[in-house]
Amino acid sequence: MVLLCQKTMLLTLASTLLLGLFVVSCVAELQRFEHAAKPDGSLSFLVVGDWGRRGLYNQSEVALQMGIIGEKLDVDFIISTGDNFYDNGLKGVDDPAFHESFTDIYTAPSLQKQCTFGISVLGNHDYRGNVEAQLSPILTKMDSRWLCLRSFILNAGPEMAEFFFVDTTPFVRRYFIDPEDHVYDWKGVLPRKNYLKNLLMELDSALRESKAKWKIVVGHHTIKSAGHHGNTHELAKHLLPIVQAYDVDFYINGHDHCLEHISSTESPIQFLTSGGGSKAWRGDVNWWNPQEMKFYHDGQGFMSVQMTRTEVDATFYDVFGNVMHKWTTSKQLSSAI
Ligand SMILES: *[C@@H]1O[C@H](CO)[C@@H](O)[C@H](O)[C@H]1NC(C)=O
Repeated sequence: MVLLCQKTMLLTLASTLLLGLFVVSCVAELQRFEHAAKPDGSLSFLVVGDWGRRGLYNQSEVALQMGIIGEKLDVDFIISTGDNFYDNGLKGVDDPAFHESFTDIYTAPSLQKQCTFGISVLGNHDYRGNVEAQLSPILTKMDSRWLCLRSFILNAGPEMAEFFFVDTTPFVRRYFIDPEDHVYDWKGVLPRKNYLKNLLMELDSALRESKAKWKIVVGHHTIKSAGHHGNTHELAKHLLPIVQAYDVDFYINGHDHCLEHISSTESPIQFLTSGGGSKAWRGDVNWWNPQEMKFYHDGQGFMSVQMTRTEVDATFYDVFGNVMHKWTTSKQLSSAI
């Protein structure tokens, strides 16, 4: 989902026209959006995941603190890592859950202003409802912050940060061969093999061409996690090699209902889980190499990211808005591109 303002839409239209005029491409391309950095060249955003429970399970408390931190950091947009509506996505565009779990919950002024948009990918619970409804522009008409896509690119800057949003649910084979008593809406995804092959090709070419200083891939499912669901081996097999090959800086996800930061001893990529938007406290945490495990919180909360061309700060907050973990990294300007 993307919560999108008119200005951004115009920019998108303009860039689409430009791309259409000047770029000749033979690979299908992921849809692109543009968002300008602040006048001082910085950008800040919040990340929340696994949230839509009509305010219950501390969803409202997390939303309140997001509003306070959002104000403090003057956030440009909010990213949702998916599982937007529990238990089974939206039934249709008129499902009251859209208001009860989204519009009526994230009400703080800092989360409302015109050019704030929330961006998200669909989670497995969203795929158990009417997927077309969550992707529908009718929702954007009801709440202008909302626009939902399966996979797409957001270029912030220009060329400061590029966000690659990846539809990860179709990667998970178990949902297809052993759905238990769940019914998934696979319209537009089948045949699965083609869908995944095309998505990986589009992502590969977009990452190859990216000139952004910071590359960030966002999906719902984990690649690496010590939480309840653990690693998603399909993503470790098919997505991880691509993100490592193109020096992606961060993989951001939800799915495990916790806050987590894992570093890798194999590559500079950081794995950041922000899945504490509502129900948490699963109580089952698996052992992880302490050299890689930088932070784990089995509870509610969210993450903020502040960036410039040379520095990124990622901060995790608990349900009271307390800073639980902060991580800073920097790059030389000369190593740009
Ligand atoms: C809400 O948050 C508080 C503080 O972390 C926690 O003690 C409580 O169990 C949470 N409630 C639910 C329903 O998760």
